[in-house]
Amino acid sequence: MKEARVTVPALARMQRAGNKIVMLTAYDFPFAHMLDRAGIDILLVGDSLGTCVQGHPTTLPVTLDEMIYHCRMVARAARRSLVVGDMPFGSYQTGLDDALANACRLLKEGGAHAVKLEGGERVAERIAAIVRMDIPVMGHIGLTPQSVHRMGGYRVQGRDARSRERLLQDARAVQAAGAFALVLEGIPAELASEITRAMRIPTIGIGAGLGCDGQVLVMHDLLGLGLEPPPRFAREYVNLSEIVTRAAQMYAEDVRQQKFPAEHESY
Ligand code: KIV
Repeated sequence: MKEARVTVPALARMQRAGNKIVMLTAYDFPFAHMLDRAGIDILLVGDSLGTCVQGHPTTLPVTLDEMIYHCRMVARAARRSLVVGDMPFGSYQTGLDDALANACRLLKEGGAHAVKLEGGERVAERIAAIVRMDIPVMGHIGLTPQSVHRMGGYRVQGRDARSRERLLQDARAVQAAGAFALVLEGIPAELASEITRAMRIPTIGIGAGLGCDGQVLVMHDLLGLGLEPPPRFAREYVNLSEIVTRAAQMYAEDVRQQKFPAEHESY
């Protein structure tokens, strides 16, 4: 029997029942298919594709058209998972009208079910306006990669009293604006737990400890597909990079020694 789609109300029910929400990034059809089949609740087409897939040093160069292209592939594969499309840098910061039009494009052209955008109080008005168009919004505060230059690098946030208070305020503002969930990235575990206790909406942590209502990882970190060792907060469950390199080496050896193709692989 076909399993029911994970929906925004279903996520709220999972939170109330104390069932952890499982989220991973996905960027293309075959991987999205495997992750959907594995029972991942939310597939985030993250702008992390800028670093993981496109080879940029940051997420800043990713365009909305590129996000839509990747969203489409993921949406085509996702039978059960909720698909969230990330709003890339420059697609909502430039004005309310841009934010509304671009959120629409992620659903209309990309096939996403919801959008995610980075920031707290300062983007709350954008979140509220997108939600008023009936587009579910996921918030994202803490270490927000689109603010890499302001932060002076990818640094854990919320370490001092002022920054902690700011993050609590940001979380409240995102919730008040109508977001259905909130990603907490790169903040101390006890602060993430405090924010989670203060929220009605589910929190989804990355580098934010166990106390969140769910967890998200970048797929490339989980599968060992990155060029760099995974960050401390990530867990590499398999090293596909080594497996793929080895397979390609075996193929190259077979071609060079004329062991491929064999007779049964020829016509
Ligand atoms: O772009 C992304 O992959 C993200 C996750 C790290 C939450 O925003």
